[in-house]
Amino acid sequence: MDMNRAVVLRVHLTASSLALLLVLTFQIVTVTVELGGDAAAIAAAKRGIALGLFVLVPALAAAGGTGRKLAGRSRAPFVVRKTRRMIAIASVGVLVLVPCAVALDQLAAVGDLGGWFQVIQYVELAAGLLNLTLLGLNFRDGRAVTRQGSKWS
Ligand code: HEM
Repeated sequence: MDMNRAVVLRVHLTASSLALLLVLTFQIVTVTVELGGDAAAIAAAKRGIALGLFVLVPALAAAGGTGRKLAGRSRAPFVVRKTRRMIAIASVGVLVLVPCAVALDQLAAVGDLGGWFQVIQYVELAAGLLNLTLLGLNFRDGRAVTRQGSKWS
């Protein structure tokens, strides 16, 4: 493995770990404040998550970009699988998770935790769980391939 590939792999691992960790943290914080938090705690959590998107979105983009670079022109089955999952992760993120996080932040900021807030919160939790699963599968595939050595391309 050349130096440059080692660096790209390291960035890929760092960015994808960060993304996985952030999505997991957002889910845990969300459930925790929903179960035991008052309106102020919920509003603070929603603001934290909305701001956290400014870290999560670049981390996901970096994971995808470095993944593409590592894969090169390979059509290995795990590359095809990871690419499909990445497209799903990005689509769910842009179309569902970001709009939900922004809407929940705005509603919580004005103390509106009523029906719409609850509906959007459930949608966000479900979509977050889906993305967490897809991220986890990509992580597992990547680790398995790196462990077995680079004989796949
Ligand atoms: C956000 C989604 C992704 C996650 C969580 C993820 C995770 C990982 C992890 C944990 C590794 C192992 C790194 C190491 O142990 O040093 C890895 C390696 C790799 N990933 Fe990803 N990855 C993602 C997206 C992608 C995409 C979209 C592609 C390709 C299009 C890709 C292609 C690769 C390749 C080629 C390797 C290197 C395998 C080797 O060592 O030869 N990844 N990934």
